[in-house]
Amino acid sequence: MSIIETIRMRVSCRTYSNTAIEPDKMERLTENLRSNTNAPFGSKIRFELMNFDMMDMSELKGLGTYGVIKGARQFIVGAVVDQPKAMEDSGYCMEKNILAATAMGLGTCWLGGTFNRTGFAEKMKLAEGELLPAVTPVGYSGNRRSLIERLFRFSAGADNRKPWEELFYEGGIETPLNKGSAGSFATPLECVRIGPSASNKQPWRIIKDQGNYHFYIKRTAGYDRVFGQIKMQNIDMGIAMCHFELSSREMGLDGVWKLEDPQIKSGGMEYLVSWIM
Ligand SMILES: Cc1cc2nc3c(=O)[nH]c(=O)nc-3n(C[C@H](O)[C@H](O)[C@H](O)COP(=O)(O)O)c2cc1C
Repeated sequence: MSIIETIRMRVSCRTYSNTAIEPDKMERLTENLRSNTNAPFGSKIRFELMNFDMMDMSELKGLGTYGVIKGARQFIVGAVVDQPKAMEDSGYCMEKNILAATAMGLGTCWLGGTFNRTGFAEKMKLAEGELLPAVTPVGYSGNRRSLIERLFRFSAGADNRKPWEELFYEGGIETPLNKGSAGSFATPLECVRIGPSASNKQPWRIIKDQGNYHFYIKRTAGYDRVFGQIKMQNIDMGIAMCHFELSSREMGLDGVWKLEDPQIKSGGMEYLVSWIM
């Protein structure tokens, strides 16, 4: 399946069926996790596929997701060494895992808040200086969304995304980017727009300038204070980079990530990185 199609298909799954993941898929997933170490800002990152099939339900409950996730027996867990831009790197790499699982027909759901971080950190044998930004359950989707899942989707406005004009600009924050002017990049930008973000806050903003695409964070006031060193909206930015890069490459649009703040009018948003043609 194409990456762009996979990005379009992905949706958070919070209710899992008890159909087991086939051994060959488990193997492919594990192999994917093992080779997924190339983070754009160079953070040291590692992933594990935790299989709770053999564990009794009470132990799984201790590792819980506060009732948000139903029926999941497998989780992908990531650990990253704490360094500048470690959150963006873990967002970028974990999203690759999520897309790989999606392409195999499996459901996933980013969890950065509603899971027992301490419990997973113990299982992951987190080393000194490592952080555990997020996990995702992985497995076959249950047919019906549980009530709690439907409530969660409703409160996060999960089926809504901000309109293009609010996210993408040209030359500076004052001029919305015209789709025509984006040309072939309209598709990578759309892949950013439909991506997942914590509480669906969609903090990514992109300004096109002289053929390059500059990425900025528009923070939600107060949002990231809750989670200490784990910065959800920086993770969101890494996901946006992943969607943008993979879809661009699939379309043959070459470029590289560079720290090259164009010093254009951004309305006080935080500059992150640029995709340079
Ligand atoms: C960094 C991050 C953290 C998230 N944390 C949670 C979480 O703790 N619990 C949860 O149920 N969903 C969580 N989500 C899922 C979002 O709510 C979801 O991606 C968003 O509402 C868009 O819906 P969609 O993924 O179905 O497109 C998180 C997503 C991201 C990207």
